Amino acid sequence: MDRTSLTEAELAGLLRGDLWRRIDLLAETGSTNADLARAARDGEAEGLVLVAEHQTAGRGRLDRSWEAPAASGLTFSVLLRPESVDDRRWGWLPLAAGVAAATAVEEVAGVGARLKWPNDLLAGTEEGKLAGILSERVETPDGPAAVIGIGLNVTMREEELPVPNATSLLLAGGTSTDRVQLLGAILDGIERWYQAWRAAGGDADSCGLRQEYASRCATLGRSVRVQLPGEESVTGTAREIDADGALGVTTESGEVTVAAGDVVHVE
Ligand code: BTN
Repeated sequence: MDRTSLTEAELAGLLRGDLWRRIDLLAETGSTNADLARAARDGEAEGLVLVAEHQTAGRGRLDRSWEAPAASGLTFSVLLRPESVDDRRWGWLPLAAGVAAATAVEEVAGVGARLKWPNDLLAGTEEGKLAGILSERVETPDGPAAVIGIGLNVTMREEELPVPNATSLLLAGGTSTDRVQLLGAILDGIERWYQAWRAAGGDADSCGLRQEYASRCATLGRSVRVQLPGEESVTGTAREIDADGALGVTTESGEVTVAAGDVVHVE
């Protein structure tokens, strides 16, 4: 099992498009999302990528934590500033990152991956979670910014899984666990979808993002229970992803739109 440390030189080789300016590498930090949020507030421009081999205070969605042994996967964040796009459409940013991650694990590791709304990456037809994505909006003196953080389990073994429903590319039978190639493919994918979405003014239909997301989404058409932030939940059938990237659910009492929550596929 390969847990060789990444090097700055091999990461620099991934700067092949127009968006990414620099890829910084840390052996250890608290949270790459927290670090990039700080950098954004200090005036950093978009296009910075921060990779850490180990996080001591990794953050997950809905106030959860994200834990992974050092070098057992990819833990990184990217800084974007889509100022020209209406705020309401920023919900597509983590969904675009999810599409990029799903495409990358298929291309590089041969593991079919689907997305549980909004952006949990599931391996194959199983419900095992390969990756999670945390998107945070940061107010800065230069305008709002978005920090998108991705945690992808690559060589994690069964006994290392932080929660029973997690998995890794190794456990899912991946044909490659090359973290440099995986990171490169994810960054290429984020760049492609981000540029297309931004050029379309955040219209996920006209740039093809909504269709691509829907084709990879394991949630649409399913019976779901969505745990909302706080105590409440919504139960029904996942019907659509709307123009803002929110989930439309048909419930017994009518249509409900969920902007943030944790989906359980009920059947
Ligand atoms: C989730 O599924 O709850 C989202 C997990 C996101 C984890 C990544 S790891 C890199 C980045 N830094 C963090 O502190 N969190 C994200």
